[in-house]
Amino acid sequence: MLVLGIETSCDETAAAVVEDGRKILSNVVSTQVELHAKYGGIVPEVASRAHIENIMPVIHEALEGSRKGLKDMDSIAVTMGPGLIGALLVGVSAAKALSYASGVPLVGVNHIEGHLSSIFLESDEIELPFILLVVSGGHTHLYNVKSYCGYEKLGQTRDDAAGEAYDKVAKLLGLGYPGGPVIDMLAKAGDPSAIKFPRTYLDNGSLDFSFSGLKTAVMNHVRGLKTDDIPAKQVADICASFQAAVVDVLVKKTVDAARKTGINRIVVAGGVASNSALRESMTAAAEAEGRRIFIPSPGLCSDNAAMVAAAGFYLHGMGRASGLDMNPQANLPLERMKKP
Ligand code: KG4
Ligand code: ZN
Repeated sequence: MLVLGIETSCDETAAAVVEDGRKILSNVVSTQVELHAKYGGIVPEVASRAHIENIMPVIHEALEGSRKGLKDMDSIAVTMGPGLIGALLVGVSAAKALSYASGVPLVGVNHIEGHLSSIFLESDEIELPFILLVVSGGHTHLYNVKSYCGYEKLGQTRDDAAGEAYDKVAKLLGLGYPGGPVIDMLAKAGDPSAIKFPRTYLDNGSLDFSFSGLKTAVMNHVRGLKTDDIPAKQVADICASFQAAVVDVLVKKTVDAARKTGINRIVVAGGVASNSALRESMTAAAEAEGRRIFIPSPGLCSDNAAMVAAAGFYLHGMGRASGLDMNPQANLPLERMKKP
């Protein structure tokens, strides 16, 4: 079964062709990072316009790269939410037009269903249920993935998402956008115990997250240095200490979720899942308790359309289908993606 995946929820215009939910025939991502970098974050209107310019060339490139035609597809899977509404609208409109013109059925995919499906592209050992930590620029959520379309939310951030915290701290330190990759890199030269930044665990037993206090602590620390020209070693120490605080909380809550539910498999997905310290620490913590840990390769952690096509494969197989009246939704809780 061949699925054309389309993803435009944020600042990547992406299309991919995946065979049987597993074999990536093509995976094209046109990133807008440079466009937004000068503003220090994503400008929704700029993102929508860039998606409009890029969407058809990206889809053509994905089909060409797969050596298949649109009519060879069994399904067109598109991210319908959550995300920036103007950005989502471009992908959904293109998918509808292609579906109408070709007669290939359409399936709307939740962006988080996409992230969690990235693991199926690489591992045929993963079985349901599993604990899912989705960590990205917009999400820090814990789920019990009982089945496809059987998602139970266990916890979520009460303020900033982990990726958002990375991006804000990077902005504060003048490190540019996006912040995750650069902090990850600089932290390697720093001492994670140099500065005692707070770990917010919230009420006893809560699986929710909060990163705004940590962000404020970093801001206060930087202000306290009273210089705009922080020496490189100190920047590295701030990055390493901030990262250690984020990673400690993410790892503890995820392992707690596995303990509470008695589920032995853990999946970490989303852009922040490419973070080297998180990968290392989560793997060590899970394995110390004899749990299995699955994290997609870094290239499949950030937004792409192969993951959307993989989700489309499973959802289409289960009978989920979307009509041409499908509309994107900026807020689309995963738990609301009911069984067909
Ligand atoms: O999943 P994604 O590509 O887009 C969203 O759905 O939000 O995630 C983007 C986020 C950004 O906040 C970026 O700074 C963060 O993922 N990120 C990282 C790393 N690479 C990307 N955060 C920490 N370490 C990284 N290596
Ligand atoms: Zn994402």
